[in-house]
Amino acid sequence: MMTRLVNISLVLAAAAWVPCARAQDAPGGDAIRGKQLYMTDGCSSCHGTVGQGGGGRTGGLRLAQMPIPFAAFLNQLRHPANEMPPYVAAVLSDQDASDIYAYIASLPPPPDANTIPALN
Ligand code: HEC
Repeated sequence: MMTRLVNISLVLAAAAWVPCARAQDAPGGDAIRGKQLYMTDGCSSCHGTVGQGGGGRTGGLRLAQMPIPFAAFLNQLRHPANEMPPYVAAVLSDQDASDIYAYIASLPPPPDANTIPALN
């Protein structure tokens, strides 16, 4: 029931923020658990604590507002193309991946540059 409530609020939040990662693509994803996994499994060290990118030696990509569906996200974790280390299922289950995807989908977009005083 609690998970269902979180899911519903995620979908509502998604509608308000118009994120690109779509929470409905990862059914059962728990964004709160996903955030914990994102921090402890090393994603944050390369992709930034809120998916802003630019971290680590390799300068991981920005993930907030990522345009890829869950299937492509899971494929990237299992079989990364270049410098990202692979996350096998024994280390990070499909459920874990779903939870992390839900966390990323919950991240709001960055503020409009016009709203930042130093840039105006
Ligand atoms: C050592 C640094 C590093 C770590 C740790 C890391 N990544 Fe990556 N990630 C990268 C790099 C570099 C890329 C660019 C493509 C590549 O190297 O495969 C990438 C690409 C991605 C992409 C593809 C983005 C796109 O728009 O195509 C996703 C999704 C992703 N990472 C998610 C994660 C998640 C989730 C975790 C934690 C479970 C994680 N990464 C851990 C460095 C990292």
